[in-house]
Amino acid sequence: MNKAKILVAYFSKSGNTEAMAQKVAEGAQAAGGEVDLMRIKELSAAALTKYDGIIIGTPTYYGLPAAGIKNLFDESVQIHRRLVGKVGGAFATAANIGGGNETAVLAILQAMLIHGMIVPGAAQGDHYGPIGINKPDERALKQAHALGERIATLAAKVMA
Ligand SMILES: Cc1cc2nc3c(=O)[nH]c(=O)nc-3n(C[C@H](O)[C@H](O)[C@H](O)COP(=O)(O)O)c2cc1C
Repeated sequence: MNKAKILVAYFSKSGNTEAMAQKVAEGAQAAGGEVDLMRIKELSAAALTKYDGIIIGTPTYYGLPAAGIKNLFDESVQIHRRLVGKVGGAFATAANIGGGNETAVLAILQAMLIHGMIVPGAAQGDHYGPIGINKPDERALKQAHALGERIATLAAKVMA
């Protein structure tokens, strides 16, 4: 069976979101995914079409994703309809609990839904997507690993 190709793309200035992204990538690999881990600025919208699963991470900026992530989605209109049926997930870091981190995750998931992607929630833990507060602690890193596993596992099932 072909391995699911999983993208973990993130924006990070001070390293908090990057630490989460590394754990997400490890989780996706542990679940058998073939994983590319990259900064959002290294990614073109056209490249999104190569993946079976797409996971995006962001710091919380005023309750929303960083501008680079919005730009990527705005550019993704070029490939609209070509992400239908791919599996998506998102995660965020923030300075404060209740600092708008879940709305930042949901903004990414909304764009994925508009692309026709499949977005699984989590019945336990961080339901919409993993949240880290400042430097992610063990709890947040565990949630991040679980997200990678969840997306890679579902992407492989969708491909089968
Ligand atoms: C422009 C800007 C806006 C921010 N807005 C919020 C916010 O609304 N809520 C919050 O809790 N933290 C906010 N923060 C803090 C960052 O989300 C937090 O430090 C994050 O972990 C940084 O991620 P990074 O280390 O990956 O760059 C903001 C930081 C910046 C620079």
